Amino acid sequence: MEFVFDKEKNKEKIENFKMFIQDHKDTSGVLMPVLQEAQNVFGYLPLEILQLISRTLNIPMSEIYGVATFYAQFSFVPKGENIISVCLGTACYVKGAQTILEEIENQLGIKAGYTTPDLQFSINSTRCVGDCSLAPVIVINEDIYPKVSKDQIKGLIEKYKSEV
Ligand code: FES
Repeated sequence: MEFVFDKEKNKEKIENFKMFIQDHKDTSGVLMPVLQEAQNVFGYLPLEILQLISRTLNIPMSEIYGVATFYAQFSFVPKGENIISVCLGTACYVKGAQTILEEIENQLGIKAGYTTPDLQFSINSTRCVGDCSLAPVIVINEDIYPKVSKDQIKGLIEKYKSEV
């Protein structure tokens, strides 16, 4: 899914980010802090920002991608307003977590690791969240849902969906 980066809306952030790059330009190992700043400021690494980094620091895009894809802290898609995390730890898996995940993916029309085009939801799969006796468990933002069944998914998504 391609997300359009709104340059106009992010104008001020881009200007501040350019200043950050200028201030750190001559520091050794500058790429990592610059990428971290971009992730913090924009919430992900938009292509336009990676190109800006490449031009300003004279670092090839291939090298930038190499670093950005190596570290899990970096994301190439924006995060949704609501993050649905499906536990795929052993206890949850045995209790049908994969089916729950597939139902969420079907309902939202995206795969785990992605965000809906309206930026309302992202889906993650996680390891054990520490509530194995309540398997299968999903977490939506800060809320834990124990013993979730496939039939509950539609209602849960509706609950978090904001009116547009
Ligand atoms: S395996 Fe899901 S909570 Fe432990």
